[in-house]
Amino acid sequence: MRHLLSVADLGADGIAEVLRLTDSFVEVSGRAIPKVPALRGKTVVSLFYEDSTRTRLSFETAAKRLSADTMTFSVASSSVSKGESLRDTVETIEAMGIDAIVLRHRSAGVPWRVASWVRASVLNAGDGWHEHPTQALLDCYTIRARRGVVAGLRIGIVGDVKHSRVARSDVLAFTALGAEVVLVAPPTLLPPSLEGWPVTVAHRLDDVLGSLDVVYLLRLQRERTTEALIPSLREYRSVYGLTAQRVRRLPADALVMHPGPMNRGVEIDAEVAGDPRSVITAQVTNGVAVRMAVLYLLLGAGSDLVGDRPAGEEPAPVVAAPERVAVGGPERG
Ligand code: CP
Repeated sequence: MRHLLSVADLGADGIAEVLRLTDSFVEVSGRAIPKVPALRGKTVVSLFYEDSTRTRLSFETAAKRLSADTMTFSVASSSVSKGESLRDTVETIEAMGIDAIVLRHRSAGVPWRVASWVRASVLNAGDGWHEHPTQALLDCYTIRARRGVVAGLRIGIVGDVKHSRVARSDVLAFTALGAEVVLVAPPTLLPPSLEGWPVTVAHRLDDVLGSLDVVYLLRLQRERTTEALIPSLREYRSVYGLTAQRVRRLPADALVMHPGPMNRGVEIDAEVAGDPRSVITAQVTNGVAVRMAVLYLLLGAGSDLVGDRPAGEEPAPVVAAPERVAVGGPERG
């Protein structure tokens, strides 16, 4: 596999492979010196045309822990402000000798275009409302770490599904692993058509809350909302917000998740983010190890592990000289 553009590039087997490798990199991340030489000599560029805290820093940390060199592209201080096109920018960066581009763009589909122009690997770090595959992988890892499995769980994805690339990638990943997904949103915050989506729909959080194993809250994307899709923030919170009162009705082993950044007091009450059932910080922590696994699969010896291996054949061990990285290490929630 050369690029990671969509969760669909991996399928259920590929997702399982990433989760298995992530166990190894969680172990590496827990060491006193959390660094292995797996990608020494490789160069990874962060190319973010849209703001990010978690994804950009997480990918850069992951690349550094694998001993890759990193370059950060800042749109504001680049020649984009002089009118340089995306293609010229990408080809200029590639001419410096790079191995991977971690790309976020406000327009859906841009990572596919860039992948057609370059020899480097392209990793989709979020394209418009479309996909955010590594967020879905870290969400699957976090659920599996806390609940043991993803299969058979009932996961409610709550809120602004219409504008959410996280929702699209999560639906693909959760259902590929055998979870049941229910979208909980007003009709105005759902896509115009859900044809082909393997989900059910509810219009009130209270109708499904007690049956959920995971409540996955989406950020209300006010910057993408161009029309009045909700009557008011107060009314939205009253029907869809995970309030301190509602969280008491969740099963004791349920998980509360959010991709960040949170609108505290809108989709989630401030104190709920600190509830023992909240794994929001664990999502961020696990994101680094998941992205190490993905970079290793695309750029390292792991690139042999996905896609071309004959069915039933065990993958080669993950070797990270001077120490071997333990496969099947402890999970971190
Ligand atoms: N979850 C997520 O994509 O966060 P950032 O926008 O901060 O990267």
